Amino acid sequence: MQVIPLRWSRRSAEGPDMKAAVCTAYGPPEVLQVRDVPNPVPRAREVLIKIHASSVSASDTYIRDGGSIFPLPLWLLMRLVLGTRRPRKPILGLVLAGKVERAGKDVERFRAGDRVYGMTSLRLGAYAEYACLKETGTLARSPSNLTDDEAAALPYGGLLALHFLEKGGLRSGQRVLVYGASGAIGSAAIQIARIYGAQVTAACGPTNLDLVKALGAEAAIDYTRTSSPPGHFDLVLDAVGIRKTSALKVACRTALTPGGKYVSVDGGVPRMTRDHLAQLTAWAEAGKLKPVIDRRYPLDQIADAHRYVGQKHKKGNVIITVPHAVA
Ligand SMILES: NC(=O)c1ccc[n+]([C@@H]2O[C@H](COP(=O)([O-])OP(=O)(O)OC[C@H]3O[C@@H](n4cnc5c(N)ncnc54)[C@H](OP(=O)(O)O)[C@@H]3O)[C@@H](O)[C@H]2O)c1
Repeated sequence: MQVIPLRWSRRSAEGPDMKAAVCTAYGPPEVLQVRDVPNPVPRAREVLIKIHASSVSASDTYIRDGGSIFPLPLWLLMRLVLGTRRPRKPILGLVLAGKVERAGKDVERFRAGDRVYGMTSLRLGAYAEYACLKETGTLARSPSNLTDDEAAALPYGGLLALHFLEKGGLRSGQRVLVYGASGAIGSAAIQIARIYGAQVTAACGPTNLDLVKALGAEAAIDYTRTSSPPGHFDLVLDAVGIRKTSALKVACRTALTPGGKYVSVDGGVPRMTRDHLAQLTAWAEAGKLKPVIDRRYPLDQIADAHRYVGQKHKKGNVIITVPHAVA
């Protein structure tokens, strides 16, 4: 197999090679190709993580195709940040779960052998056998009761849902409507709003009504047949995001009580903090927050995973499993 030099990497290439899905250009799922690349090397305050699972989110598909769905200002910003003609960091992937293989010399929070999970954020790099993250990043010990696949299904939806629900001022006793309730963010938002003591109504497609009720929604609305009741909700979370139609935007607004608050998951850059990840861990270990997994694909079928997520109707999360030749 061809070994490609990571000229775009700021790391020195040393040691053996690893498998990674490399995004060769912005474009359709086929631009993702599994290749041998040099192993990353941790700096003093970084850990080298042996990745066992990652996930493919809506965001991953937008990054891969170069942001074609975004309005021009956002498209320009995205290209400036991620690379104008192709991704500057060609190994995509925002979420990882696995084990610390090696800790840099000044690392204090983790040691080799710790099971960890978290977000790579703008570093990307999770579609690979190994990645380096700063110990101060959005990284924590994995919930003790979850497998690596399950742990990889928590951070993206959970952190986004928590951020935007907090932004909406979520409180106990409120009536909350979650639109896009069957997706990664929506499925976490239902559960988090319930943990806060809210009454949750979930809007999703017809095949997902049972799923959202099982996650704790008191009522479920099939958005293809029924509108949400007008003037009823203290907080509306639009977890459909950038794909929403103008009719859906109107439906979200009219569902609010006069003093109610509308929050869209596309309303600004979310803060994904270590504190929030610790909160998700505690809820998962208490059995209050359960990851929803739709499908699993091995790393070498990453293009199929992107094709499926691109259909825009996954249930919860799509997981990438990362097999290792030496366990
Ligand atoms: N601010 C940020 O930085 C940031 C970061 C990440 C993501 N986001 C936004 O978050 C969005 C959601 O991400 P996700 O990963 O949770 O997506 P996802 O898992 O694909 O879920 C999308 C949800 O939208 C629903 N949906 C699809 N088409 C719909 C329509 N026409 N009308 C109503 N609902 C519809 C789906 O319901 P059914 O399948 O049941 O029909 C599903 O519940 C992304 O698209 C992006 O815009 C923003």
